[in-house]
Amino acid sequence: MHIELEKPKMGVYKRHMLVCVGPRCTQEGESEQLFQSLAEKFKAAGIDQGELRVKRTRTHCFATCKSGPILCIQPDGIWYYNVTPTNLDRIINEHLVQGKPVEELIYHRGPQ
Ligand code: FES
Repeated sequence: MHIELEKPKMGVYKRHMLVCVGPRCTQEGESEQLFQSLAEKFKAAGIDQGELRVKRTRTHCFATCKSGPILCIQPDGIWYYNVTPTNLDRIINEHLVQGKPVEELIYHRGPQ
C-alpha cells in the first residue's frame, strides 16, 4: 500500500543559525538562554523576516564541546564560540545584518 505523505513546508530564509544547547558547551544553561533570546533580538534587528531572514534551530552536540555557547551560521560555514549576549549582538549586527563575520569569535570555517 502506498501512503501519500504531505510535504513539509518551510519559509524562505537567507541564513540558518544552529545553536548547540547540549550539556557540555556550558554548565549553567547559558546556551538555552541564548537561544531563547533570539526571537526578540532577531525581531529588533529586522532579520526575523524579509530578505535577511535567519532561521534558528537548537542542536544537541557538534562534538566541539568547549568554550560555549557555540553556534554555526550556514550556508556561510562559520562557527562561533564564546557567544555571550554581547558577542551575540555583534554577530547579529555585523554578520547577519551587514554580512561581515566577526573574525575574533570564529573557531572554524568549513567546508573549505
Ligand atoms: S555539547 Fe555542545 S558541542 Fe557538544
